[in-house]
Amino acid sequence: MILRIETVSKAFGGLRALEEVTFEVESGTVHAVIGPNGAGKTTLFSVISGEQRPGSGRIVFDGRDVTAHPAHLRARAGLVRTFQLTRPFAALTVMDNVAVAAGALRRTRREAVSAAAETVERTGLGDYASRLAGELPAAARKRLELARALALRPKVLLLDEVLAGLTPAEREPMIGLLEELRAEGMTLVFVEHVMPAVMRLADRVVVLERGRVLAEGEPARIATDPRVVAAYLGEESGDAPA
Ligand SMILES: Nc1ncnc2c1ncn2[C@@H]1O[C@H](COP(=O)(O)OP(=O)(O)OP(=O)(O)O)[C@@H](O)[C@H]1O
Ligand SMILES: [Mg+2]
Repeated sequence: MILRIETVSKAFGGLRALEEVTFEVESGTVHAVIGPNGAGKTTLFSVISGEQRPGSGRIVFDGRDVTAHPAHLRARAGLVRTFQLTRPFAALTVMDNVAVAAGALRRTRREAVSAAAETVERTGLGDYASRLAGELPAAARKRLELARALALRPKVLLLDEVLAGLTPAEREPMIGLLEELRAEGMTLVFVEHVMPAVMRLADRVVVLERGRVLAEGEPARIATDPRVVAAYLGEESGDAPA
C-alpha cells in the first residue's frame, strides 16, 4: 500500500467538504475518484498533496505520515498532483516550464533541461516546446500540466480532470499516455467525469458525495450500484456516468 487516506475531514466554515474519508491505494494500481460537482474531489487532492491541511485525519504516503509535510516536500518525495485549473508560468516557454519542475530534482541546469526535453517529447508537446505557455490551446495546456507533474518523477500521480475540456479525439492520446504510465508501474489516482475513461483505466473507483465516500469498488460494480446512480440523478447530463 503506497497511499492511505485515514478518516480525513475538512471544513470551510460551516461547509463540510470532506467527512471521514478513508481509502487505500496499492502501489502500481489506478484509482478513479468520481462524484457530482462540489462533492469534494479537488479538496481531497489538495489535502493529499499538501496544499491544504485536513481538519482531522492522516495522510500516509510510502510508509510515512506526511499530514504535516508541506506540498513541495511531498512532491519531492514522489506524491505529485496536477491542477484542475492549470497553472503554468504563462510568460515562460513550454520547455522552460517543464525544466523548472524538473529542476526541483536535478542537480544541474543541464540535467534539468535534458529531463525536460524528454518529458516534453513524451507528452506530445514537441511542436510547442518554444511557445509561451500562456498562448497554448486548451489541449496543449492540459499536456503541459501533465508534463510538469511527470518531470517530478512521481511515485503517485494525482490527476484532477486532465480530460476535461478536450474533444474525444484529443482525449485518446492522453488516455494512451496514462495507460503507458500505468504499464510502467506508476500509481495513478485520477478525478474524472469522463466515465468511459474511468471504466477503461481504473482498477478501483471511489465515489464521493457531499464529502463522504458513498461507494468504493471495481468499476463494473460501481457503474451499476443503485446508490451511485442515484447520486448522479439531477446532475447536469454532461456529468452523469454514461
Ligand atoms: N477554498 C475554499 N473555500 C471555501 N469553500 C470551498 C473551498 N474549496 C472548495 N470549497 C467548497 O467545498 C466543496 C467541495 O469543492 P471541490 O472543489 O472539492 O469539489 P469537486 O468535487 O472538485 O467539484 P468539481 O467536480 O466541480 O470540480 C464545494 O462546495 C466548494 O464550493
Ligand atoms: Mg474539482
